[in-house]
Amino acid sequence: MTATDDKARTVRGYFNAIAGRYDLANTLLSFGLHYLWKRRTIKEARISPGASVLDLCGGTADLALRAAKAGAQSVMVCDFSAGMLSVGKKKAAAVPAISFICGDAQRIACTGSSFDVVLIGFGLRNLVDKEQGLREMLRVLRPGGRLVCLEFSTPVWPWFRLLYDFYSRSIIPTAGLLIAGSREAYEYLPDSIKKFPLPDDLAALMQAAGFRQVRYTRLTNGIAAIHTAEKP
Ligand SMILES: C[S@@+](CC[C@H](N)C(=O)[O-])C[C@H]1O[C@@H](n2cnc3c(N)ncnc32)[C@H](O)[C@@H]1O
Repeated sequence: MTATDDKARTVRGYFNAIAGRYDLANTLLSFGLHYLWKRRTIKEARISPGASVLDLCGGTADLALRAAKAGAQSVMVCDFSAGMLSVGKKKAAAVPAISFICGDAQRIACTGSSFDVVLIGFGLRNLVDKEQGLREMLRVLRPGGRLVCLEFSTPVWPWFRLLYDFYSRSIIPTAGLLIAGSREAYEYLPDSIKKFPLPDDLAALMQAAGFRQVRYTRLTNGIAAIHTAEKP
């Protein structure tokens, strides 16, 4: 087993462990902000009626449900955590447009280039090989298709960054333990955010992967950011 496999297994283990309480923890730890960020993500996706959407690293299907509500004809949720998918399947049980596949975002199990939109919410940061993940997203989009990536980032104002760092390092791990039962998963969260490329660097990675029209918007002073890009 390689170090890469090992890291992926650890990350999958975190999500399987917290799956049952993941949504609740998201809401409490973000003070509900993730709802606004997800709403904005769907707006940026410009989903047209009948669109075919891939929700990569889709977890408990929050974005998939919103995409279906926005008019998508089919939404495929892909995630490598059986625990997260099982919560998502329950939430989407009454929505036939949504289907689920358990698999790795770095090797998407689809042969064609058929998706109109690829959504990835708080997922890219977790990929061991982000460049490979982006190349896969490009591969499965149809020409002219749209990638929308919602991800944590870094606040712009220095004083806010300090406050946010304190919250991330000193409050989130303990709150994560109390709410979702895993300190490790919520120590991994701020660690992975710190290592994640800043918005300009992520935009450059998308360009290098072959995307065009790459743009981004910071949310809540940069706690999160939405990148949009198109397949030429
Ligand atoms: C922070 S959760 C985000 C879930 C959902 N998109 C949301 O916005 O709430 C990250 C998800 O990415 C999944 N994930 C991480 N690495 C993955 C990979 N290599 N392939 C597929 N899924 C992955 C995890 O299992 C987890 O469900």
